Amino acid sequence: MMSAKPAAAIIRSKAAERQPKVGIILGSGLGPFADQVENQTVISYNDLPGFPDAGVEGHAGQLVLGSVGGTEVAVLQGRAHYYEKGQADVMRTPVETLKELGCETLLLTNAAGSLVPEAQPGSVMLLTDHINFTGVSPLFGETESSRFVDMVDAYDPTLGDQFRKAASEKDITLHEGVYIWFCGPSFETPAEIKAAKNLGADAVGMSTVPEVILARFYGLKVAALSIITNMAAGMSDVALSHDQTMENANQASNDLQALLGEFLSNYEK
Ligand code: HPA
Repeated sequence: MMSAKPAAAIIRSKAAERQPKVGIILGSGLGPFADQVENQTVISYNDLPGFPDAGVEGHAGQLVLGSVGGTEVAVLQGRAHYYEKGQADVMRTPVETLKELGCETLLLTNAAGSLVPEAQPGSVMLLTDHINFTGVSPLFGETESSRFVDMVDAYDPTLGDQFRKAASEKDITLHEGVYIWFCGPSFETPAEIKAAKNLGADAVGMSTVPEVILARFYGLKVAALSIITNMAAGMSDVALSHDQTMENANQASNDLQALLGEFLSNYEK
């Protein structure tokens, strides 16, 4: 396992004055949030040992350091997914690097399908818990006893409250629910979505859960938000595709960017 120390050392050498408190991973459709970062230092993942090549369309693959609303942030613009190489710990070094840089909180964003009629495409959902339906863990192979991570309140209730407050300030409807992680890269079958619904899921996606596990392993507080890009398989007549998913991302992406901005303006300095 690649340690985060070389990456952190490179980041410190390029941005010595930066002391990020909040790490942010931008998922599909959320990349433009990086434009809100003031006094940017941008470092390509290619210059950071242990960081992934950003594979999927729309992912920049760079670290953006700076501030938003007076809070120092380290923004990971682009993530790698388990389905790319069958590697569940592909985001381990980036998450550990955030910890190493001094971050205390990790905000995760993604694009997801909705399993509940209330949360239509174009809306935003705060994740309150997850179901790991893949059966894999980014901590396979870890030997420290801290690998037995407590996942109760993994989605930090206080951070959740701060996002609820930000949503009411910004007059944005914020849905809430449980996220279920499927491997992908194929979308789910209607039968799988029916099963997921019975298991208690409200949103479905192919990311985020491994990063939540890693963040808790490293002692970071977590909040996660989804932009709802589509109704899950079998729930609407619209055919699922990556393009369709991205077309619906815009409205939700704007709302989520506003939420992140408001949250960071109020974040304890
Ligand atoms: N399923 C899985 N991942 C997704 C979906 C979906 O319906 N929409 C966006 N990401």
